[in-house]
Amino acid sequence: MNVAQLETEWTVVGDAKSWMDALLAAHGGSSPFASVKLEQRTQSSLKRRDLTVLDRSGKACLTGEVKVPWAADGASPFVETTVVDARAKALAAGSPWFFTWNLNELVLWKTDSFGDLGQPRGFKTFPVSSLRRQTDLTNPRFIAELRDGIERFFIDFMRVFRGETDLPQRAPDEYFVHAFDSFLAWPVLGAKFELLRRDGNASQRGAIDRWMRDAQGWILVGDRSELLGRAAKFACYAIANKLVFYDALRKRYTELPSLEIPEDEASGEAVFSRFGGFFDEARHVTGDYETVFGNPGADIGSRLPFYDDNVVDGWRAFVRQLDRFDLSKLDYDVIGRIFERLIDPEERHKYGQYYTRPEVVDLINSFAISKGDAKVLDPGCGGGTFLVRAYARKKYLAPRLGHTALLETIYGTDISPFAAHLSTINLATRDLVEDGNYPRVVRRDFFALRSGGDFMRLPRDGGTQTVTVPRFDAIVGNPPYVRQEDLSSDQKAEYRNVARMGGLTPTGRADLHVYFWGQALALMAPDAKLGFLASSQWLDADYGFALQAWLLENFRIEAIIESRDEPWFVGARVQTVAALATREADPEQRDNNMIRFVELRQPISSLLQHDDTTAGQLDAADRFRDAIMD
Ligand SMILES: C[S@@+](CC[C@H](N)C(=O)[O-])C[C@H]1O[C@@H](n2cnc3c(N)ncnc32)[C@H](O)[C@@H]1O
Repeated sequence: MNVAQLETEWTVVGDAKSWMDALLAAHGGSSPFASVKLEQRTQSSLKRRDLTVLDRSGKACLTGEVKVPWAADGASPFVETTVVDARAKALAAGSPWFFTWNLNELVLWKTDSFGDLGQPRGFKTFPVSSLRRQTDLTNPRFIAELRDGIERFFIDFMRVFRGETDLPQRAPDEYFVHAFDSFLAWPVLGAKFELLRRDGNASQRGAIDRWMRDAQGWILVGDRSELLGRAAKFACYAIANKLVFYDALRKRYTELPSLEIPEDEASGEAVFSRFGGFFDEARHVTGDYETVFGNPGADIGSRLPFYDDNVVDGWRAFVRQLDRFDLSKLDYDVIGRIFERLIDPEERHKYGQYYTRPEVVDLINSFAISKGDAKVLDPGCGGGTFLVRAYARKKYLAPRLGHTALLETIYGTDISPFAAHLSTINLATRDLVEDGNYPRVVRRDFFALRSGGDFMRLPRDGGTQTVTVPRFDAIVGNPPYVRQEDLSSDQKAEYRNVARMGGLTPTGRADLHVYFWGQALALMAPDAKLGFLASSQWLDADYGFALQAWLLENFRIEAIIESRDEPWFVGARVQTVAALATREADPEQRDNNMIRFVELRQPISSLLQHDDTTAGQLDAADRFRDAIMD
């Protein structure tokens, strides 16, 4: 970096000081702070830009260090060496708080609640900007973002200082989630930039569209730049996902080499090949995990995280951070949660990717899964919450069933490869040690499943075995909420044909979830259970009447449960209802059945109180189910 570049960077830090000064002046006597000091020094090769805030008694109350995102040590404000160094300085200055800031994101830390990595830490993150290169520092748009971000942070810090609010203390798994998110911001930014550039070329644009539409199952509506941003994010998280899982597998398969990118590796293409080598090795050594590692590599999604050479440092920083964590000490139940946070609420709404609260999942499973060996399917399994909770429930019902036996009865499909990764990882990490750790999760359109048809191939005694689609004892889940307006006429025609096989003929106005019910029936055993959470519109809207009539003709509806108190999907804006039904061929049984319409007026977590153990959670769900059924 030349002197002129350094000057520009330092100017920004100087600006940050003057923005803080201006806020102090605006608050006049009501500000708890006396002044902001800026130190810029170059010690041998170390460039330091330190900011210190002094309180009214002249003592340091906040110290902090600024890095730039295009420098190796600035890939994220969570780079461990930077954080530890910044804390040491805070301790030396007697400052109760400190921050690390890589211009794009700022993290405020609490000096005394800061354990080693793997211990709880108190901190809060502030998104600031999305700078990609040095020249952005002269762009007024970015300067305005920086100013805005610093002001928001500083006002918040005043409240922390006054004791009006505190920094949340986060457990190691939560820390991991935040750091993970933060480290990926840089590769995502680079990938988005490259996608936007390539999108200008007609043939590349066509290939990008095909990937988003066919491989991800997205509906290509809305703002193009937003859509490409989402593509960049998904592609990078899918790679990161594989890296996390690879790292976890190394506990069991010690022959797998550790993840490393040599210092002299400078091209994105080389990193792509290096990671590809790791993943091939993992597939080879484990003989499995096709769903996770089996990406052919030619597809845009697996390449675009590496289009931009600037991201190499970001990936290097990411794998280093991964290496510092002992993933085996994290609670793997949260892995699905880690990834669900990645999709922001706006996107979820648009693409129907919501994830269901675990208590609701337990309640639905409690109705639907009554035996440890029941064959269960979630047809749009997302991050795997229904499947993982089904695993826990089956183990609870039949404690002697081992990991392999449990996995043999739990099936998941999802049209999104990302979701299929998540569910596979989430199930496989229940037990990484047992042989035969093969989750039955595939990336597949649910409407393509046929009873008795091929489901997937799995390793068996040195060869492979074909797993066929069984008759399921329970089909549970949260079918996607995609409004009929967003479905193409081809899609609707195809889905309608399949739903008809289950005897259901939805009207043209039906939402996507309605077709799921019909297809589900086609795959169910004679007295199987269905537990679907869906938008409650089908109880009132015209298109729902066909579904209601069809349910009454094929099922004994046990209960319809709705909450008046809270949404049951993270980020969902629609009212949801859980429908619980048993397949019933006998018309008399169906006619004499009483349906329980249940309206919850308290949060489900207060109705299903438990002692935080898995058994306690499942037991609470069973008790509540019994109360409803009595
Ligand atoms: C509402 S989410 C539910 C996720 C998960 N069951 C949960 O509750 O946490 C719906 C899922 O269905 C998937 N999906 C959409 N269309 C699909 C299709 N035709 N076949 C299989 N999965 C599909 C989406 O990718 C999404 O992950």
